[in-house]
Amino acid sequence: MSAPELDSLRAELLAAIAGACDLGALEDVRVGALGKKGRVSALMQRLGSMPPEERRDFGQAVNALKTAVAEALEVKQQELASAATAERLADETADVTLPVREGPLAEGRIHPVSQVTDEITEIFADMGFSIAEGPDIETDFNNFTALNIPPEHPARQDHDTFYFAEKPDGTRPLLRTHTSPVQIRTMLKEKPPLRIIAPGRVYRCDSDQTHTPMFHQIEGLVIDEDTHLGHLKWVLQEFCRAFFEVPEVKMRFRASHFPFTEPSMEVDIGYAKVGDEIRIGEGDRWLEILGCGMVHPNVLKAVQLDPKKYQGFAFGLGIDRIAMLKYGMPDLRAFFSGDLRWLKHYGFSPLAVPTLAAGLSR
Ligand code: DAH
Repeated sequence: MSAPELDSLRAELLAAIAGACDLGALEDVRVGALGKKGRVSALMQRLGSMPPEERRDFGQAVNALKTAVAEALEVKQQELASAATAERLADETADVTLPVREGPLAEGRIHPVSQVTDEITEIFADMGFSIAEGPDIETDFNNFTALNIPPEHPARQDHDTFYFAEKPDGTRPLLRTHTSPVQIRTMLKEKPPLRIIAPGRVYRCDSDQTHTPMFHQIEGLVIDEDTHLGHLKWVLQEFCRAFFEVPEVKMRFRASHFPFTEPSMEVDIGYAKVGDEIRIGEGDRWLEILGCGMVHPNVLKAVQLDPKKYQGFAFGLGIDRIAMLKYGMPDLRAFFSGDLRWLKHYGFSPLAVPTLAAGLSR
């Protein structure tokens, strides 16, 4: 390569450097000139195969070219970097007079169903219950048969229960109609003594102001060798006092019937309506909040527990219902309509975790 050719390569590279509009473009020019396969580097590699007398002059010229290009790159690089900084400074101004924007922790809300589930869980955890879980899609055995619900029982009918298509083996999976199948799952998995609660979603074909096709229950189960009805009453009384955060709650245990308990009871709590306000624990109105009883011997047999040795109680409580009662929410359907205005009004702060020590609802 002749001296004029070297000069024109130099002019070309310096022009490219001068014309680079940002750091990325400049880097492309650098790689094209000084990179391993760059044009200046290729000239350096040629030196080795030259006759010594030519090599000296050519070497000096290429070196000078290389230095000039490197220097120009350096100057341009600094120029572009400070231009980029200046641009960001101009662009990213902060208006410190604006009000603080609330973060998700301040703005988000805990749904009343989650709040009340946490409150109930906290109370029973304090009494030594642990949490059990089961799936929303259940077998006919767990949801009905093992719970001593006979085949002709009305609850099994299609218009109450959401069934799935029949499987090849003839069984029909279903959406659990109550949390009671978790009793079965627990007793099949673990040996007594058992003391569990099981919160979760349940499903029934039903819809009006106080019923939605999906709602929430919490199941309780205690199995050992000597737990009796007195224990059941005490546990539920303590629960109601703690949950409604009042010193005394008027309760009524009414004889009832459930296939999976014997004897069976329904529990009402007393309340008064003063204007629009509901006062729990006083007054002469009653509201049913749960079903309970001593676990039926047939249920124990279904999970291979000897009813002569083991006994205990169970209860099932509607979470949404007592949430409505405690927090004065009139329409159940609003719970599941996904209206943010409703949630902002009735929802709870994510930082106010319910604990018995600090208070359940603050
Ligand atoms: N499973 C019943 C229902 O959904 C509620 C219930 C009643 C649960 C009595 C129980 C119980 O564990 O002992 O209506």
